[in-house]
Amino acid sequence: MPALTTPGRTDKSVYQEGSETQQYTSSNTAKVQLLSVTKTYTNGCHALLDVNLEVKKGEFLFITGPSGSGKSTLLKLLYGQELPTQGQVIVDECNVVGLRGDRLSSLRRRIGIVFQDYKLILQRTVAENVTFVLQAQGYTRKEIQRRLEPTLKLVGLLTKADCFPDQLSGGEQQRVSIARAIVGTPPLLLADEPTGNLDPDNSWQVMQILQKLNSFGATVIVTTHDEQLVRRCNHPVVQVRNGRLSRK
Ligand SMILES: Nc1ncnc2c1ncn2[C@@H]1O[C@H](COP(=O)(O)OP(=O)(O)OP(=O)(O)O)[C@@H](O)[C@H]1O
Ligand SMILES: [Mg+2]
Repeated sequence: MPALTTPGRTDKSVYQEGSETQQYTSSNTAKVQLLSVTKTYTNGCHALLDVNLEVKKGEFLFITGPSGSGKSTLLKLLYGQELPTQGQVIVDECNVVGLRGDRLSSLRRRIGIVFQDYKLILQRTVAENVTFVLQAQGYTRKEIQRRLEPTLKLVGLLTKADCFPDQLSGGEQQRVSIARAIVGTPPLLLADEPTGNLDPDNSWQVMQILQKLNSFGATVIVTTHDEQLVRRCNHPVVQVRNGRLSRK
């Protein structure tokens, strides 16, 4: 299998040699900063309060915290789905708050997102769900095919490529969303409860996939409730409680 097999941190090609292959280099991995960020939703809910966070290029960070504490909100600020009420959100040296149109799209193309609610397109097959982002980004058919099979194999869904989301279990749908997030080998991966619907074995496999991506140089931020998984992985952890962030 060509994908995600070579460990190491610098200038590694995750997929096989090829002119359009995504390369991780020291200059394209992301760095994330939240500077005094407060997020109050329009209904008055204070989701985040004066949050400061720096995630260095190539780092793997867990964000834990109880339900409703602000974890998803923090990730949504990073990919510009929500805007902070106060403070600055910097990704890859860009202030996300000021980005619009093409520049916001360009930033999002460099971010792989595993959504907590999957956001699969119900009318499309597993293979189409995984590849439509690559199509939108102008990858050639050949390159898309080259990436699809190893990615589906990696998440254990090769035999489900032609199924539609409503023909899959919850855990399988979650793995489709993971495949979609990693198929473009993004320099920044944001995974919101990526193991929320998985059994311990599958959870561990998913963590190994994310760690492998990280070993190639991707910056990875994962929210989770799974304390056991966090302990097993031995990466830095921050905790959100009532909108406030602390290092564990
Ligand atoms: N669009 C919204 N409008 C108003 N309030 C919101 C919105 N989204 C989230 N909230 C509120 O913001 C707070 C933080 O929500 P968030 O989804 O970030 O929590 P979470 O830590 O991800 O929780 P969970 O572990 O259950 O996924 C909650 O009190 C939630 O009700
Ligand atoms: Mg959440």
